[in-house]
Amino acid sequence: MTKTTTLPIRADQTLAWATLRQHHAQGAADFDVREALAGDAGRVAHFSQQIPHVFADLSKNRIDAAAERLLFALARETGFDARRAALFAGEPINSTEHRQVLHWLLRAPRDAAVPRALRADLDAVHATLDAMLAYAEQVRADHEITDVVNIGIGGSDLGPQMATLALDAFAAPGRRLHFVSNVDGHELAGVLRRLRPRNTLFLVASKTFTTAETMTNARSARRWFEAQGGSDIARHFAALTTNVEAARDFGITTTFGFWDWVGGRYSLWSAIGLPIAIAIGAGAFRELLAGAHAVDEHFRSAPLESNLPARLGLLDVWYRNFHGFTSRCVAPYHQGLRRLPAYLQQLEMESNGKRVDLNGDALPFATSPVVWGEPGTNGQHAFFQQLHQGTDVVPLEFIAVREAAHKLDGHQPKLLANAIAQAQALLQGQADTGGHKDFPGNRPSSFLVLERLEPASLGALIALYEHRVFTSGAVWGINSFDQWGVELGKVLAKDIEPRLASGDVAGLDPSTAALVRRLG
Ligand code: F6P
Repeated sequence: MTKTTTLPIRADQTLAWATLRQHHAQGAADFDVREALAGDAGRVAHFSQQIPHVFADLSKNRIDAAAERLLFALARETGFDARRAALFAGEPINSTEHRQVLHWLLRAPRDAAVPRALRADLDAVHATLDAMLAYAEQVRADHEITDVVNIGIGGSDLGPQMATLALDAFAAPGRRLHFVSNVDGHELAGVLRRLRPRNTLFLVASKTFTTAETMTNARSARRWFEAQGGSDIARHFAALTTNVEAARDFGITTTFGFWDWVGGRYSLWSAIGLPIAIAIGAGAFRELLAGAHAVDEHFRSAPLESNLPARLGLLDVWYRNFHGFTSRCVAPYHQGLRRLPAYLQQLEMESNGKRVDLNGDALPFATSPVVWGEPGTNGQHAFFQQLHQGTDVVPLEFIAVREAAHKLDGHQPKLLANAIAQAQALLQGQADTGGHKDFPGNRPSSFLVLERLEPASLGALIALYEHRVFTSGAVWGINSFDQWGVELGKVLAKDIEPRLASGDVAGLDPSTAALVRRLG
């Protein structure tokens, strides 16, 4: 295996970067999308694209074809092609943890043509998938189990939770899924209050099986189970983890494993997806994987010019490093996608919220934007005011689903009309008498469309985001697959916890000491 830990050339030292700066200074900074749309009959077609299951219209963004060409050049100069090849070759591109990055292998079909070195991994993926899906079907057939509680946090919570909400229309009725992540006992206590041990299955989901929140919740769940007279742990607890031994030590014998080459935020395709499979069934789970795989193939093989994840990732670079936009708002116009912004927050900000490059050297330019959002139309009646008339420009990402899964009359056209109209309003603005009623317009947005929200299209949408994050991370020359930034707080919390009881504030700064005294 070749090593890909060093950076070919840092983005800001490339010719393309300098030319992009120039391009921005010489007009692109004031680029008016309205004029561009009026003056170029081909703009919408150029900036629109259909990939498997997802259509995207990027034409309302503050970018022209010249800037996009320069961004493609930037990607090439920074070694994007080689890094993408390294991802799919199974090289250890997560260099700080010396790990491969193979979440895409989790959705490769059994007979996919993969590098010889990954054949055994793919066989193991399918053996585990088959076992996990057989178990999911067993749980689905077991009518005594009415409640499934997923105990996990971060990637062991957000993905399965987001996906089960999104695919609720495909879920068999009569079984409730609960997600408990917070170490705040109010969450678990609130769920336990509604459960009976003999009707409950607890899934302890943790890649490491050491995460404090999850272990605390899992121990409390087991204590509650036993205190209520529950005894058959093998039937009522299952573990989803790479750390099978720790699960066994905990007393759980039903375990579905995965591998260290699956990052937590990329893990819903693995055993961590068991709650999804229990909700929608084995066949639909395989469709979710197939939708993602179709986008993997697109990302792997399409030239940059027609590679949607790459185009989106490069647009992110353009906005962050040249326009200086600091955040991106995601507005899914589908209630089922209400946890998508939270999911994307972890995906993008934990992946690309990095301040050093692959060599460990501080970067002189910005990386991950803040990603945030709420479903439409709710957001319109809350924070959209700022998007239309605030002092910051926040690129907005609409996600619309053409067909509804319900039959209620009149809702869907209203919903879709609102999505289109908001994008239109952001773009065109409105001149009034000046002052309060003026909308500046020229506020950028992207518009993604799914025909239906179904397993395959959801899989495709998520894979699109994963590869988009990969693209901007590759151009920035960072490791998108580690998360050292979460460690310090964990260590300090361990130190603070006993101090709350003892009142010992020795060695703490005065502000922290005061908080320990107040809350202890
Ligand atoms: O603390 C951050 C993190 O490591 C995430 O990356 C991860 O998704 C989450 O914690 C949960 O980790 P685990 O699945 O090992 O419990």
